[in-house]
Amino acid sequence: MNRVYIKTYGCQMNERDSEQVASSLRDRGYSVVDNEFDADVVLLNTCSVRDQAEQKAIGKAGYLAKRKRSDPNFMIGVLGCMAQNRGSELMDRLPDLDLIVGTQKFHAVPDHLDHLIKSYSAQGPRPATVLDIDEEEGSQNAIKDHLPKQDQVSAFVSIMQGCNMNCAFCIVPKTRGRERARPMEQIVEEVHELAEQGVKEVTLLGQIVTSYGRRDFPVVDGKSPFVQLIERINDIDGIERIRFTSPHPRGFKQDLVEAYRDVPKLCEYVHLPLQAGCNKTLRAMNRPYTKERFREIVDSLRAVVPDMYFSTDIIVGFPGETEEDFSESAAFFEDIGFDMSYIFKYSIRTGTPAETMLDQISTEEKERRNHVLLDILAKRSLWRNEQLVGTVQEILVEGPAKKGDKFVGKTRGYRNSIFDGDERLIGQLVQMKVNRATASTIYGDLVLAGVDTI
Ligand code: 5AD
Repeated sequence: MNRVYIKTYGCQMNERDSEQVASSLRDRGYSVVDNEFDADVVLLNTCSVRDQAEQKAIGKAGYLAKRKRSDPNFMIGVLGCMAQNRGSELMDRLPDLDLIVGTQKFHAVPDHLDHLIKSYSAQGPRPATVLDIDEEEGSQNAIKDHLPKQDQVSAFVSIMQGCNMNCAFCIVPKTRGRERARPMEQIVEEVHELAEQGVKEVTLLGQIVTSYGRRDFPVVDGKSPFVQLIERINDIDGIERIRFTSPHPRGFKQDLVEAYRDVPKLCEYVHLPLQAGCNKTLRAMNRPYTKERFREIVDSLRAVVPDMYFSTDIIVGFPGETEEDFSESAAFFEDIGFDMSYIFKYSIRTGTPAETMLDQISTEEKERRNHVLLDILAKRSLWRNEQLVGTVQEILVEGPAKKGDKFVGKTRGYRNSIFDGDERLIGQLVQMKVNRATASTIYGDLVLAGVDTI
């Protein structure tokens, strides 16, 4: 009864939460398996940001319920954002669920499973579904443990939970609660331990990292707590690269811009969510900035790091987005020149302000707008990668490619890179001469001191 499989939907924060659950289950004597067919317990760690993500997890839980009918001791749990968002409604919809655990209760999963297993072993009536979706003070501090993984080059580190913004389209404030930061000391300690285990790159995670600790820690020498945290991590031996996701344009101030100039390990790549490139739509979305301000941030970053890479999130078909609004947004998207982007078709979320807005956009029109942006993005990312052909890039080697006998890694600008490598190079910074590029990947040969093949 103690083999658990965890399936994760959604963002990096969810990946990180699943890792924490896996680690705490292992500490409790469970074995965490990598395939649902070998498991006695399947936990779905879910996403609510779009309807499609919820439907996928609901479909999967329904499918697992069939197995439970032939194997009554098989257990199914729903964790994370959808558990928080839908709560007891999930019990009505999916009566076979054993466990529903919200985003502030991940640390309680081992206790709940212990309890359920005991009840099942007692062979009485089926135990009642456990529903645990309360808020809990300090729960952000529970996302701190990592599974020891062989050859782990890169790790996610959760620095905060929650979001105090009120974007009209977004369910996250409901699923993740109010902003709560982890103490800086604990984060620094966690990164130290990761470095000792051989991790070379950390990605700091939070719903809005630029808000990190703004109520808990003072500004020092004009630097926000988030920038102070980046500087502290920069000082940790063994860590070679620092990334983060996601900042908010409103909190992206000059101290963070200057960190890209002054903090050597901070990689010249930023994921900066735009959401719309039209001021009317930004206002309707309740995003507190204009496209002119967004442009200013991009320009100030390019002024300190000319070859900065930009990635973004953008939504097409927000209610009331007219053809002209969209054209304006698309033109701005093209003008900025994003190297990577997630492009989302607006999805109605129950309970958000945009749910009841008039002028919802048709599915076909959202699809069309999606393609317009995808085309712009494909051209730009191919062009940007082609600029690298003939240059030598620093790559952090991650491991063997999924297919073939090549190796994969990334540049500081987060370009996927493929080359002939060697197990011994995993976790090393190497130099690659780029000889070919596609929109998503650069290919090349490793060189020593810019000349010889290794
Ligand atoms: N519909 C479509 N996309 C959404 N996002 C958030 N809410 C919605 C929604 N209702 C997108 C935003 C956000 C990303 C994580 O998901 O672009 O930045």
